[in-house]
Amino acid sequence: MLLGTQRITVRGYLEIGGRDAVSLAEEFGTPLYVFDEAAIRANCRAYTAAFAARYPSVAVEYAGKAFLCLAMARLIHEEGLHLDVASAGELYTALRAGFPPAELVFHGNNKSAAELRMALDADVGRIVVDSLYELDLLERLVAGRRRPQEVLVRVAPGVDPHTHRRIQTGQADTKFGLNLASGAAMEGVKRVLRTHGLLFTGVHAHVGSNLRDAEAHVQALEAVLDFAVRLREETGLAIEELNAGGGLGIRYLPHDRPLSIDAFAEALTSALHDGLARRRLPRPRLLVEPGRSIVGEAGTTLYTVGAIKDVPIAEPPGVRTYVAIDGGMSDNPRPQLYDAVYHAFLANKADQPAETIVRIAGKHCETDILIDSVTLQRPEPGDILAVPSTGAYTYSMASNYNRLSRPAAVFVRDGRARLVIRRETLDDLLRQDVLPDA
Ligand SMILES: Cc1ncc(COP(=O)(O)O)c(C=O)c1O
Repeated sequence: MLLGTQRITVRGYLEIGGRDAVSLAEEFGTPLYVFDEAAIRANCRAYTAAFAARYPSVAVEYAGKAFLCLAMARLIHEEGLHLDVASAGELYTALRAGFPPAELVFHGNNKSAAELRMALDADVGRIVVDSLYELDLLERLVAGRRRPQEVLVRVAPGVDPHTHRRIQTGQADTKFGLNLASGAAMEGVKRVLRTHGLLFTGVHAHVGSNLRDAEAHVQALEAVLDFAVRLREETGLAIEELNAGGGLGIRYLPHDRPLSIDAFAEALTSALHDGLARRRLPRPRLLVEPGRSIVGEAGTTLYTVGAIKDVPIAEPPGVRTYVAIDGGMSDNPRPQLYDAVYHAFLANKADQPAETIVRIAGKHCETDILIDSVTLQRPEPGDILAVPSTGAYTYSMASNYNRLSRPAAVFVRDGRARLVIRRETLDDLLRQDVLPDA
């Protein structure tokens, strides 16, 4: 499975962005997150073009939770996308990168008063209100401010997105947003309308992540448009902005066939055109909020192979080969969190036939299996293992479990590698430690 600018060199090495993976591992060490910069930019452009061709007023926001650092925020701005941030830390990163505050959208199901104040002080473009409690906080915080804060109200549309339960968000029984069916969403909007200092601009619904089709998005859109009709009846107001969230899936395994960005845009915009016409609603500005499908396939993690063990097993009778790598659940917790599956191959033997069935084990003091079963080229200690499609929700979910340093990240493009996140040093691991009697 070769993605983006990946190819195999004459020496049989994996190459990404014109740099071979073996030299990247030598220069920057492993584990290493390698981002194919041209692929990220191509995805940004594909989103912008696909939606602009089908709908008159669109903004694409990158969901920073998928992967964010200063260089990523810069790249996203250079590509003309807006940015969704969901914590003080993500907001701070965006601001320090020089991201225009007006193009920031602040999310979160339990924003603190301090986070909301920070967002208001920064003049972020939109705050997405997630609860009536948040409205209590905002009412107090906006009192006396000169600039009214534009807000969207996040609704729970009550649809089942058919994805792993830990990344479902659009169903009725969810911690996210205000329930459409219970009346909480209508109450939320009416409270925004009554609050001096808040400006209601529209509605947000994100149904879930890594979705294989656009069925749940379309159902959510229908629910939101029905809500827009009720809102018009009860308040006379139109929704100016409709944020359809993110959620498009990517290729993790060679046989995965997710919707293309184009097909996703087609499904969403045709449902929106139809739904608006049927209800005689004015056209809102459409916002979409992709994370995984911008950066997921563009990231490859490189590891060095260490211990290899053949272990006798009873079922089926035989031997299982465990290939241990120098990272694991600290740099990619997704397999442990929600049974995420990955493909892998040896970057230094990429031209050789894959014939050895192995289990890829991390180095943590838990079961820590990164890949349950994958067919590799014949593995030996010192080989460089490449795990593709690891750009999203890996570094952003990384930890220091077992006091492992979080890996470095590089952007590669046209034969050049740029370090965008330094590897943590052992001293970095002690930076926050305090000896009580010191
Ligand atoms: C509110 C919101 N928007 C956008 C996204 C991005 O989703 P994805 O990375 O699946 O595109 C998420 C992630 O779950 C989210 O919670």
